[in-house]
Amino acid sequence: MCAFPCSKAETLYSMSSVALTGIGSLVTNDPAVGQGPLGMLTDAAVVSEDGLVAWVGSANMIPEGTDAVVDLGGAAVLPGFVDSHAHLIFAGDRWPEFEARMTGEPYTAGGIRTTVSATRAASDDDLRANLARLAAELAASGVTTFESKSGYGLTRADEARSLRIAGEVTPETTFLGAHVVPAEYADRPDDYVRLVIDEMIPACAPLARWIDVFCDRGAFDADQARAILEAGIAAGMQPRLHANQLQQGPGAQLAVQLNAASADHVTHLSAQDVEALASSSTVATLLPGAEFSTRSPYPDARALIDAGATVALATDCNPGSSFTTSMPLMIALAVREMRMSPDEAVWSATAGGAAALRRDDVGVIRVGSRADLVSLRAPHHVHLAYRPGVDLVDRVWVGGQQIKESA
Ligand code: NIG
Ligand code: FE
Repeated sequence: MCAFPCSKAETLYSMSSVALTGIGSLVTNDPAVGQGPLGMLTDAAVVSEDGLVAWVGSANMIPEGTDAVVDLGGAAVLPGFVDSHAHLIFAGDRWPEFEARMTGEPYTAGGIRTTVSATRAASDDDLRANLARLAAELAASGVTTFESKSGYGLTRADEARSLRIAGEVTPETTFLGAHVVPAEYADRPDDYVRLVIDEMIPACAPLARWIDVFCDRGAFDADQARAILEAGIAAGMQPRLHANQLQQGPGAQLAVQLNAASADHVTHLSAQDVEALASSSTVATLLPGAEFSTRSPYPDARALIDAGATVALATDCNPGSSFTTSMPLMIALAVREMRMSPDEAVWSATAGGAAALRRDDVGVIRVGSRADLVSLRAPHHVHLAYRPGVDLVDRVWVGGQQIKESA
């Protein structure tokens, strides 16, 4: 159904066609469509039809005959953000832990167990309601594709139900049964690894596109991570990895060896790790919300980009280390704190996220891509970094349907 005031039905496009005109500056992320790596156009228009981009170009060349025309009055438009790393299936929150951290306590993986207890005790509907609230926040901040992990259930039944609920709202579901060793296995972690491999993976593989392991201090070592990931791959899931968040270690290079879609966090990297990522197809997914909220040093985005690695930005939304759904905040942090240029940050939050999910239908505005678009209350995408903390996301379309109205 057309979400716009439909004025006329003419021949060139079906009833579901919509032309967005008056675009002051357009990020397409397709260098074949416009200038530079972001494929920029000015005074542009985009036509969507049946959920896909049907035409993109200069406004004065726009084809006639769309069902509806929306004049954006000079606004900037970009592809919807692709949040390739989030933990959205949980109950409760951990604000006392955050408060303690802000007065000097360090962040450790141990806090995850607090959320595991709350999640196990929650009903399906409680988990669904929390997920719906976070998904609405993501949409309002311009996210049109997002991933969500399990990892706060840590029993076969609780992991499977987390993935079932996540699968109701996104195809990008990730099994993270190896998030931490749960309390009841604290003195026999190898038995937990066996449970993950022998029981959880068979139950969860049909429900998850991806498998992830937290390979770090206080979580799983390289041998455990490799065994779990290889079992997950054999069961049909594709690997991605939480790696090198808390200290240097083997995670990033393990991700490369397994041809993982992404190595995430990568906050503490050696020169060899940077080189390994740069010469691989594994995306380095940076999660500056975690460093911001745990008051930790930021990853070296410049070293990764300058070495030629593909970099994505994502929220890592979770109740412990990064309780935010704001991709514009990630862009502002990446620019201000990690010395990424505004163009690099916007690319990483859109096309970079798509690469991390091995998707070529999103994160780009070209004929045939999904019509996922964001317009800003600003004339240029640099404003996303230039005006930190200001809600600039004006309208949002997913598959050509407008899901956020202009405020
Ligand atoms: O990505 N590092 C591991 N997992 C999450 C944190 C989860 C939590 O603290 O609840 C992360 O930061
Ligand atoms: Fe995470």
